Amino acid sequence: MRRGRVIEEGAARALLAAPREAYTRALVDALPRRGPPPIPRAPSEPLLRAEALTVDFAGRRRFFTRGRAVQAVRGVDLAVHAGEAVALVGGSGSGKTTLGRAMLRLVEPSGGRILFRGQDISRTRGPGLLPFRLACQIVFQDPYSSLDPRMRVAQIVDEPLRLVPGLSTVERLHRVDAMLDAVGLAGFGARHPHALSGGQRQRVAIARALVRRPDFIMADEPVSALDMTIQKQILTLLRDLQKAHGLACLFISHDLAAVGEIADRVVVMQHGQVVEEGGRDQVFDAPRHAYTRALLDAAPRLESQGGRQSPAGK
Ligand SMILES: Nc1ncnc2c1ncn2[C@@H]1O[C@H](COP(=O)(O)OP(=O)(O)O)[C@@H](O)[C@H]1O
Ligand SMILES: [Mg+2]
Repeated sequence: MRRGRVIEEGAARALLAAPREAYTRALVDALPRRGPPPIPRAPSEPLLRAEALTVDFAGRRRFFTRGRAVQAVRGVDLAVHAGEAVALVGGSGSGKTTLGRAMLRLVEPSGGRILFRGQDISRTRGPGLLPFRLACQIVFQDPYSSLDPRMRVAQIVDEPLRLVPGLSTVERLHRVDAMLDAVGLAGFGARHPHALSGGQRQRVAIARALVRRPDFIMADEPVSALDMTIQKQILTLLRDLQKAHGLACLFISHDLAAVGEIADRVVVMQHGQVVEEGGRDQVFDAPRHAYTRALLDAAPRLESQGGRQSPAGK
């Protein structure tokens, strides 16, 4: 259906194999497909690493009692190397956001260590944390609430550059223009967020996160609030920018199929622990943990005559 009208119907297999309408084709094309195989990397010092990381939340206070304490992250080891895209997936409440935020020092860990370029930053505070803060950026989940509605797109993207010492106004303008161009929003600088679609807003959020040329970005559910066809465009954009800039990325999502396909490595979390970790193809083609298999089975995919079609497509 589109705009309240049936535009195409037919037997499931035939329709999915050969959609006639452009809109149907766009939906079918939006199904996750695997990119080229990841390039094997030489073992090196990870850019960012969690070691036996634990995060406990005290129970939320009720009227006279306290709710039960939550162990959101239970002894997780996770390393992200320079230039590597890692997908962190798992069901709602499995601890993904808490782990990602703890690795960026936005949530206080209860135990374990966080290493940035080999240095323990778990307890670093104040100005000592500044190089780390400048090197890491976040793309937030909800593009509708994360952008200041009073600011114009160019100002939103420019804001992080104001913290870079020694950058002239002209240089900043150039950087903003180039960044808007890179995310497909050339000429949108004077608009306000309300004059943009959800996908365009998420492009602004990505431009803002990348404009200071970070080494690492964390994208927490970057496409969950978007339509399926737009999800694909945004994930492809993230992937292309990640490769072009040699960025390290942590893509967090409940949707294994969507983010897994654009990652080099996949890490699966359940109940605050990592239950499976491996190269993308290994996790998709030979998942070892029952929970990973359940996540894969829950994902929409096309079946071919020979049974389950590889999401790699051709
Ligand atoms: N600020 C908080 N205070 C108390 N409990 C929290 C807080 N944030 C998250 N939790 C709990 O920690 C667990 C993991 O949450 P979260 O990291 O958001 O999972 P996910 O991102 O995988 O959905 C959940 O049980 C959640 O209710
Ligand atoms: Mg989350």
